Amino acid sequence: MTDTKTAWIAEEIASLQDQGLFTHIRTLGSPQGAWLVVDGKRVLNFSSNNYLGLANHPRLVEAAKQAMDTHGVGPAAVRTIAGTMDLHLELEQRLAAFKGAEAAVTFQSGFTANLATIPALVGKGDVIFSDELNHASIIDGCRLSRAEIVRFRHADPDDLRQQIAATSDYGRRLIITDGVFSMDGDIAPLPALADIAEALGILLMVDDAHGEGVLGNGGRGIVDHFDLHGKVDVEIGTLSKAFGVVGGVVAGKQTIVDWLRQRGRPFLFSSAMTVPDVAACIAAVDVLEESTELVDRLWSNAAYFKRGMNDLGFDTGESQTPIVPVMLGEAPLAQRFSKRLFEEGLFAMAIGFPTVPHGKARIRVMNSATHTHEDLDQALEIFAKVGRELGVIA
Ligand SMILES: Cc1ncc(COP(=O)(O)O)c(C=O)c1O
Repeated sequence: MTDTKTAWIAEEIASLQDQGLFTHIRTLGSPQGAWLVVDGKRVLNFSSNNYLGLANHPRLVEAAKQAMDTHGVGPAAVRTIAGTMDLHLELEQRLAAFKGAEAAVTFQSGFTANLATIPALVGKGDVIFSDELNHASIIDGCRLSRAEIVRFRHADPDDLRQQIAATSDYGRRLIITDGVFSMDGDIAPLPALADIAEALGILLMVDDAHGEGVLGNGGRGIVDHFDLHGKVDVEIGTLSKAFGVVGGVVAGKQTIVDWLRQRGRPFLFSSAMTVPDVAACIAAVDVLEESTELVDRLWSNAAYFKRGMNDLGFDTGESQTPIVPVMLGEAPLAQRFSKRLFEEGLFAMAIGFPTVPHGKARIRVMNSATHTHEDLDQALEIFAKVGRELGVIA
């Protein structure tokens, strides 16, 4: 029987299916790692954000178990009522020290960190200058703030300058950029943006979700990478990618962190990070502070893979990071490519419109410190086989 109230939804879903845009959600039957069991099949993993292998690291798992023995599982409250545990404060102090920031505050995810921060800094009558390729959570945070949103051309400080010059009659101003752009793996021109922000007295915020644990000395992030300590007002990070757990962090000036504890709505109105998550994140900071080995291995793996792909004749776009796009053109080819990779035992996602522009569909390869050289060689062999079969390389 047709449910008239939801008929439109069924039609939308059918339309997505017709256009080949319906997302089939694959299921993992194993922990994260270089190899996964996906939909019952053992495959080599190039899809996760588990850059350093921390998602299944024994030290993090052990820390989570021990914390549950002493602190239980859930916070059972928002941070401002009864949800702030000593563990939350310890994590925040450790993250601030690790990143060389004045202070830090955690959120339930990187997404909620953006939703908390942007509306706390600007509102109606204010203006945000936002890179046109910024992540969805930045876009949603900007919309929630009710400030005017002015998009500047991707990674283009000159265009930003022009947009600022053409925009007057606003109260507070905020520049926002992703640190690492997750579809292309390129890095924001943060030093130039910081110069503009400094010269014009505009707040500067960077979302370093894919740079946290990846860029900078031992994974200290994009601000450390460019040695811009003290010159970026707010740095958003996620604990859900390289850190291997789940959570978000805002690091920066003490005043801003103090303000977010008063006005960051997900801090006030959504329960705190859970006990095992917080404890595992503290252990992640321990691991990163003790050695740069995992971060170094991540970068050398990524360089090895990229070189191998370029030698085979693949176009890997503008990537400057361990995210390697394999540019293919139209979405159906990318879909077919990903499907064939999976059949050959390699899991790497196809990305097409609307996530990237028409004609820029790709396979997005996520490198990881967990891969051995044998894994990487096997991946290159599979890419070569499928690439030749589908006429992408000679
Ligand atoms: C730039 C950026 N910001 C925020 C997020 C969201 O982070 P989380 O998964 O912790 O909510 C992502 C994740 O895709 C991201 O790429």
